[in-house]
Amino acid sequence: MCGIFAYLNYLTPKSRLEVLDLLVTGLKRLEYRGYDSTGVAIDAPDNKNIVMVKRTGKVKVLEDAIQENFSGSEYSEPVLTHVGIAHTRWATHGVPCELNSHPHRSDEGNSFVVVHNGIITNYNDVKTFLQKRGYEFESDTDTEVFAKLVHHLWKKHPGYSFRELVEQAILQVEGAFAIAVKSKHFPGECVASRRSSPLLVGIKTKTRLATDHIPILYGKDDNQKKNPDKDAESGKPTVLPRSDSTSEFMPLENKEVEYFFASDASAVIEHTNRVIYLEDDDVAAVRDGTLSIHRLKKSLDDPHAREITTLKMEIQQIMKGNYDYFMQKEIFEQPESVVNTMRGRVRFDGNSIVLGGIKDYIPEIKRCRRLMLIGCGTSYHSAVATRQLLEELTELPVMVELASDFLDRNTPIFRDDVCFFISQSGETADTLMALRYCKQRGALIVGITNTVGSSICRESHCGVHINAGPEIGVASTKAYTSQFISLVMFALVMSEDRLSLQQRRLEILQALSKLADQIREVLKLDKVVQELAKDLYQHKSLLIMGRGYNFATCLEGALKVKELTYMHSEGIMAGELKHGPLALVDDSMPVLMIVLRDPVYTKCMNALQQVTSRKGCPIIICEEGDEETKAFSSRHLEIPRTVDCLQGILTVIPMQLLSYHIAVLRGCDVDCPRNLAKSVTVE
Ligand code: F6R
Repeated sequence: MCGIFAYLNYLTPKSRLEVLDLLVTGLKRLEYRGYDSTGVAIDAPDNKNIVMVKRTGKVKVLEDAIQENFSGSEYSEPVLTHVGIAHTRWATHGVPCELNSHPHRSDEGNSFVVVHNGIITNYNDVKTFLQKRGYEFESDTDTEVFAKLVHHLWKKHPGYSFRELVEQAILQVEGAFAIAVKSKHFPGECVASRRSSPLLVGIKTKTRLATDHIPILYGKDDNQKKNPDKDAESGKPTVLPRSDSTSEFMPLENKEVEYFFASDASAVIEHTNRVIYLEDDDVAAVRDGTLSIHRLKKSLDDPHAREITTLKMEIQQIMKGNYDYFMQKEIFEQPESVVNTMRGRVRFDGNSIVLGGIKDYIPEIKRCRRLMLIGCGTSYHSAVATRQLLEELTELPVMVELASDFLDRNTPIFRDDVCFFISQSGETADTLMALRYCKQRGALIVGITNTVGSSICRESHCGVHINAGPEIGVASTKAYTSQFISLVMFALVMSEDRLSLQQRRLEILQALSKLADQIREVLKLDKVVQELAKDLYQHKSLLIMGRGYNFATCLEGALKVKELTYMHSEGIMAGELKHGPLALVDDSMPVLMIVLRDPVYTKCMNALQQVTSRKGCPIIICEEGDEETKAFSSRHLEIPRTVDCLQGILTVIPMQLLSYHIAVLRGCDVDCPRNLAKSVTVE
């Protein structure tokens, strides 16, 4: 949901062209977050002005424009210190066009330029306030108010530092944001901040850093209450007085240093693995090559410093390698990613499982009233997929909830509820809001995420990292199978001491040990699936039917088809067929049915017969060698046999491949489906 990237080199010579190249590469890594339009801002060759380039469309369009417009020798000369900011947009306020692209500017002279991810909810009030003071707006975005507000404050308070100006502006805005600001009045400086949208700072130095922590500086609360600057009409404070930190810049003293501000780690990993994850309302500022982190208000549980952490990610993980698309690569990574999810947790020799991130909470979880599994989209489907097993092995009531609907209903939550928040990105706004809602009501919060350092990770009491590795394709694939396995592992942990369940546990553990090889087998169906895709890609619709453990695969398969191919697709609970959906079936409607040898096999066969007797000719997903089932159709995909509760992992892979191939055949952009973004940080 919009990607921010900013770069600052201090005493490390880089030409403007090199800076632009860095910015464009950073944007390419973040493109999956939004790809409606892009833009960059750097210092002009006269060092007095800022130049911006913005384009509608993907980063490639911006890259071409930069190559066309910045070839002059003045752009090739090395500059000791420079600040560049860049943005790739997923439109929320205002259509995708150049005017609405970031960076946004404070005035025609480009005094302050801003890139922003999130939504400023009170932008209309701020806009009206600024319009009354003569500001004219050129875009339809909420972001522009921020640039102009900083400018207004700068005119009013000439003595303020850049960081203080941004702080004061932040105090006036509501909503969710991550921002990075650059100014021609403060050359060589960059200020960035976040509230409910992710932002990290990468640090690259030639020599080892002298510290692993950056101390946090605070303003004084008392000071903020005194003498607020009042809006003449409303009487509301419009500008709070400056904060009064004792020493403005506590140092990360390193002479030659490069800083990267980015929405996520994939944009910085090729430069450095040393990063600081900013917390809500942190203001990070670089001046004279020194980074400081400042907070306006101190709360009791604040740490004294932010830690500089070392990323474990490898650069190869964020490259496509020999694959045509990230999604394709991620589908084929699943034999390894599922193993990584289990690594160090499952001991197949001793049949034991330890989930380090929640083990201390297991006794409390066992005493709970019910388990709630909450997420959006694919993450929600992983909850649907594992609910039955959780009910069986925990013997607790299990509710699965779409985060948005859960919030809409003001669902009652109790202190003895245990709430799981499942999210690949760990930043999805609906899921995060639901987490905060449950936390306020005293429930135990368990995060199931793929992104270390994400908001859901940090705000959970305990949790499981699914360790699937970076997922860059907008359509989620390997994160789904790893979420699925994480929840299965949790169910196994919960039933460790139940004698009556030991046989079942053993069966599941044995099946888990074979899973990676079985996924490899299923992936060998790729060519067969591609042929099926050729039969299907020109159709308007695709129905996917199943029940029991495979209903989640139907929902997930249909979601993949919709988002990647723009075809209509529906996941249908086979038990519901005769209650309506059967009316859709005729000899021309493509139908895919999952019919496996599990407790609902007979019921699935009934559904299959209902479809074939209405002249439907379904494609069947069945177990290897199941001649009886195969006889119902000439088109089938055979998958290896596994335990019922893990079938969903093997049945979802043909769906991922099918949606991928249909998307390619229809000429769709597989990694960047229209209107979507990877991390949905707005409600
Ligand atoms: C679909 C997809 C989305 C996400 C959903 C939640 O392929 O990727 O449906 O699953 O937006 O995102 P996370 O898991 O990051 O919370």
